[in-house]
Amino acid sequence: MSLIDKLDHKRLPAHIAIIMDGNGRWAKTRGLDRSEGHKKGVEAIRRVVEAASTASIQYLTLYAFSTENWRRPSDEVNGLMDLMVYALTRETADLKKNGVRIIAIGNIERLPDYVRETLQECIQETAGGKRLTLVIALSYSSKWELTEAVKKICNDVKSGTLQEEEISEVTIDNYLSTHALPDPDLLIRTGGEQRISNFLLWQCAYTEFYFTDTFWPDFNDEELYKAILEFQKRERRYGKISEQIEYEQ
Ligand code: FPP
Repeated sequence: MSLIDKLDHKRLPAHIAIIMDGNGRWAKTRGLDRSEGHKKGVEAIRRVVEAASTASIQYLTLYAFSTENWRRPSDEVNGLMDLMVYALTRETADLKKNGVRIIAIGNIERLPDYVRETLQECIQETAGGKRLTLVIALSYSSKWELTEAVKKICNDVKSGTLQEEEISEVTIDNYLSTHALPDPDLLIRTGGEQRISNFLLWQCAYTEFYFTDTFWPDFNDEELYKAILEFQKRERRYGKISEQIEYEQ
């Protein structure tokens, strides 16, 4: 029996975000080049997108490349860019057929032209997808995103399109690259580390965290469902007490 049959379909996380970690170590433990780990990582992405869609998850955000990842050796960075173009080109038709809409968050301007163009084509092609929104965080970091938001808010206050007294948490949400998305309900990090690595810091204020030692290339549908089952055991109190939560249900 698959773990999917154990899920409570009335209490699914609407938005799952994943820090895909451990590609390099997966390769190293097998005496392979790091690039082999990244290739296997793409296969894991395919499996997990399918599994999320099967479980009726509405939003899946994948941390594919951070602002800090630009500091990796140029061979690895170039290899990752090529791999992204390869994966996006290969998968676009299938994503479209399966109702998966791709969107991207991050400093897209910094990507090489050929990557940005492929990504934009994939975004346009899949724009009609209604089943699952797949958010790719690319050249993304939360501190970058928040800095950009602060600059735009200052500009709008200066130009008079925004009044300082009007600024609220909702205003800040609206200036982030995730403005059209609900906050993640569940954040999964693979690869054994237990940190957030500059990912969705504002948006994860009340997100449930799930850490697993499994390296990303080994992550699969059952691992995803295991994380969702764990999420379903948690009580989300948002600062309130248990009795209040029970009363509201
Ligand atoms: C983390 O493992 C993985 C990455 C930084 C890259 C993940 C990106 C891909 C697999 C390509 C994505 C493609 C698309 C289309 C979204 P690591 O290298 O940090 O592993 P380590 O911690 O073991 O060194």
